[in-house]
Amino acid sequence: MKRLTLINTGLFVLFFVCCAAAAISTPPLPKYQSWKKSARKVVADKKSLFYGIHYIYADPKAIKGYQAGNKFPEGSRIVVEHFNIKGDNSAVDGPKNMVVLMKKDKSQKNTGGWLYAGYTADGKPSRLDPVKNCFECHQKEVAGRDYVFSGIADFK
Ligand code: HEC
Repeated sequence: MKRLTLINTGLFVLFFVCCAAAAISTPPLPKYQSWKKSARKVVADKKSLFYGIHYIYADPKAIKGYQAGNKFPEGSRIVVEHFNIKGDNSAVDGPKNMVVLMKKDKSQKNTGGWLYAGYTADGKPSRLDPVKNCFECHQKEVAGRDYVFSGIADFK
């Protein structure tokens, strides 16, 4: 009985260590629905990684960053919601297929001071590699814009 308790304690500690660490790399998806929302964007090129429809959401800090010409204060959060295109009709949103988050966090030294995270349509972490699956593209294309593609014009 005592031994079982010890094993259980061990498992609990293990669980805690593993999942606390995972939580740092993928925070829960914030409630972004009330943030400022971009115009609807349609990428109709089937060869594009972004084939589909998307909307960008920016919290008040991120909006300040956009207004400053893409210089984002610590804590800024930007979310993108992606939807499929149903058949050939891009006038209506198909099913949601994923959500991505960038959060300005100076401890994220390998990814330009931004935390990158991907989620499934229902908001569960999709465990993508923030360097290989996210940052390498943002770094290559928009390092001079604080790694952010969009600009304040997208929110007008
Ligand atoms: C192949 C290039 C590429 C990869 C890989 C990529 N992105 Fe992006 N990302 C873009 C482009 C292009 C936009 C701009 C879309 C627009 O302007 O409507 C963007 C926009 C964003 C935005 C909105 C802020 C901005 O930069 O405009 C966030 C947040 C974001 N991506 C997060 C991620 C995350 C998290 C991953 C990894 C899971 C990822 N991205 C992978 C190219 C990429």
